[in-house]
Amino acid sequence: DGEQISEVGPGLFEKITGLPRSGSTKREFRVKEVKTGHDAAVTDAAGCLVMPGMIDSHTHYHLVSRGTVTADSFFEGSRLAAFGGVTTIVDFADHDKSQELSVSTKKRIDAMSNDIAVDFALHQGVYGVPETLFAQLESVKALGVRAVKIFTTYKQVGYLIETSKLRELFEYCRKLELLVTVHAEDDPLIEELAEKQGDAYAGPEMHPKLRPAEAEYRAVSYICALAKEVGIPIYIVHLSSAKGLQAVREARDSGADVHVETTPHYLLLENSLLSLPDAPKYVMTPPLREKKDNTALWGAVAGNEIAVIATDHCAFTEEQKLSSQDCRSIFPGIPGTEEMLPLIHTHGVVKGLFDLQRMTDLLSRTPAEIFGLYPQKGSLHPGSDADIIVFDPEEEWTICKETEHTNAGYTPYEGSRVTGRVKKTFLRGELLVSENEYFGRKGTGHFLKASSSSVWSKIKP
Ligand code: URP
Ligand code: ZN
Ligand code: ZN
Repeated sequence: DGEQISEVGPGLFEKITGLPRSGSTKREFRVKEVKTGHDAAVTDAAGCLVMPGMIDSHTHYHLVSRGTVTADSFFEGSRLAAFGGVTTIVDFADHDKSQELSVSTKKRIDAMSNDIAVDFALHQGVYGVPETLFAQLESVKALGVRAVKIFTTYKQVGYLIETSKLRELFEYCRKLELLVTVHAEDDPLIEELAEKQGDAYAGPEMHPKLRPAEAEYRAVSYICALAKEVGIPIYIVHLSSAKGLQAVREARDSGADVHVETTPHYLLLENSLLSLPDAPKYVMTPPLREKKDNTALWGAVAGNEIAVIATDHCAFTEEQKLSSQDCRSIFPGIPGTEEMLPLIHTHGVVKGLFDLQRMTDLLSRTPAEIFGLYPQKGSLHPGSDADIIVFDPEEEWTICKETEHTNAGYTPYEGSRVTGRVKKTFLRGELLVSENEYFGRKGTGHFLKASSSSVWSKIKP
């Protein structure tokens, strides 16, 4: 009381609370009043868990694509993130082939910095391998971007990377220690199925047939085989299927160093949703799969075969989504950052699949390590950023469009009963969210210069 705290370190907990750390449980933790001598605020976290801010390492805020832009821009995205206990996001810099990567990426960093209210890092999209790519990637690395993102599909949108150039790209990434992350669906198979379908109308329920799990299996297999040959680790984004998981297992058995991310929607939603009248709202790529795929992915999360859960938040308004009923032209993507923590807490921790430590690894520590942000992010240790959330693990509530803050105007998890709610979110010690109140300010989020991914350390001789 009245004591000046000049140092955060071992013993501080005991000093503030008067409780021995070892004997403290969440029930016993109660700070009544502490005067620090600074103008520090004290938060009563009684009955709650105090955790590091979550990280959504796969977002598409303000994605300009397919002649439109996604519904949640940088500020809106960061606002809904904070309500969901997410204090860091990793978004994407597109590969604009009309200019040097570092130029367009710097523009993205500046645009995001002007608007966003959580901290952010970037993955660099690479949609082709021009002669100067190595030098361009060197410059991008100097900016603080350490992961590249490739697509093995999406020819029409200009994302597909030529298979013949992949080895060259992987060599560059090995030399520069950049982590290659992959959207893995086999384009030749998808093209073959599209050709068979021809001009015939294909409703949302056709999406999984035109982009089957077999396409994921094939792409994961050849990407991992090439990564192993070149000697790089590889990171598969949004794994969606049991078949894809089988490919990961086979690749690992053959010696590939494969790191896997999945999303809440591939764990929790099924393709039966694609037969509803508002089915376009559930269309994303890869498509939703079957119950057996959800189950296989949960097993892989529980069994440590999947390292990261991130959302692929790519929100379009209901109007945008429902502007087409043909699965080939429905804008692909759904919102998800805000729902991530309560959903994974409910279906992972409360159901007893894994413990809280594992949950914070999946949603915070591991993405921080893999994307070169640890220990600044993903940790509550002294010296880390004070990105802290206060989470009530017992509050039961129902996710619905009124509880969520996305501009999409809907949530794909409408009506889901969940246990656990974010009560407060702090970014670098600043209060962003308290219950339903928002205190964030545009442009206060910092760009995070990534260091080398933790996965490289395993590869080195
Ligand atoms: O449908 C999706 N996933 N949209 C976002 C872009 C991507 O493929 O990750
Ligand atoms: Zn993708
Ligand atoms: Zn994505």
